[in-house]
Amino acid sequence: MNLFKYKDIIEEGDLVIVYLDVRHLYPITIKKDEVFQSKYGALKHNDCIGKKFGSVVSCTKGWVYVLFPTPELWTVTLPHRTQILYAADISLIILQLDLKPGSIVCEAGTGSGSLSHALIRAIAPSGFLYTFDFHEQRVEVVRNEFEAHGLNSFVKVEHRDVCSDGFNVEEVADAVFLDLPNPWDVIPFTAKTFKPTGGRICTFSPCIEQVQRTCIALQECKFQDIVTVECLQRIYDVKRITQSIINFDNTKNDDTSFDKSKDDEGDDVEEQEQSSNKNGSGHNPQKEIETVTHWAAVPPLQTPGHTGYLTYASFMPSCKS
Ligand SMILES: C[S@@+](CC[C@H](N)C(=O)[O-])C[C@H]1O[C@@H](n2cnc3c(N)ncnc32)[C@H](O)[C@@H]1O
Repeated sequence: MNLFKYKDIIEEGDLVIVYLDVRHLYPITIKKDEVFQSKYGALKHNDCIGKKFGSVVSCTKGWVYVLFPTPELWTVTLPHRTQILYAADISLIILQLDLKPGSIVCEAGTGSGSLSHALIRAIAPSGFLYTFDFHEQRVEVVRNEFEAHGLNSFVKVEHRDVCSDGFNVEEVADAVFLDLPNPWDVIPFTAKTFKPTGGRICTFSPCIEQVQRTCIALQECKFQDIVTVECLQRIYDVKRITQSIINFDNTKNDDTSFDKSKDDEGDDVEEQEQSSNKNGSGHNPQKEIETVTHWAAVPPLQTPGHTGYLTYASFMPSCKS
């Protein structure tokens, strides 16, 4: 199966994303006579074969959707070997690296391949991704996944310590991306990785101290336009809410009924407020509070969690001199 060539019908051997609800999605590879168990009971793989991607398929205690595996769905379902990057950061990385079909990218470390899938989709069919990780087992697993997803012609994954050895590709890259603990060690190697026409670099680091060291290294290597951003995703709830209408006439009446002569004598003002509070709010209790109901975008109560900082910069041909 090729993840980037959409097809309509599910066949044996295809990767399918089983969608139970927005929080419960699972990747399965369709195999004849196998069964997938979920809270909606048993899903027979045989029942998926021949169905259209996006269909509803019955289980023994309900039904599920069977979806085509996009990079976005792979990111939320892939087996984690490491921390991974998610859609909010990924979208900004692709924009800031100026990636398009035909771009050539060097990435380290590969990790679980979440970003790699999105990078490949952005640069296919004529671009190429060189991706490196110093963890041999992770390299093996991700290599198998790339192969199973039909991505071999767009990517080469290599076992390599880029902090000590740099990238073994020269003058090819339009963009370099670093997601590893000490990107500042790799930055000096990148000068010979970029095309002679230059390119863009982006690093991802969870801590601001890492960002500081990265920025110093970028400056020392004469990178230009160094910018650091934090990308936080706030998901708004769209719902109908009811709000009271503030009656400015009431406010005005209260103010004008206030005896200005007493305003200058502080104690009297306090007394007046207290006595009006004893009688209620001081506003006319007869008047009903008017309300209005409307659609609103309600922000989340909790601030979403910090993932990391993205630092990006440009490598110009003049940086080499
Ligand atoms: C947080 S993970 C990357 C996750 C990846 N961006 C994703 O979205 O799946 C960091 C990876 O960097 C690798 N790494 C750390 N230091 C490295 C080095 N010096 N050379 C190559 N890879 C390295 C680790 O083995 C790990 O797999």
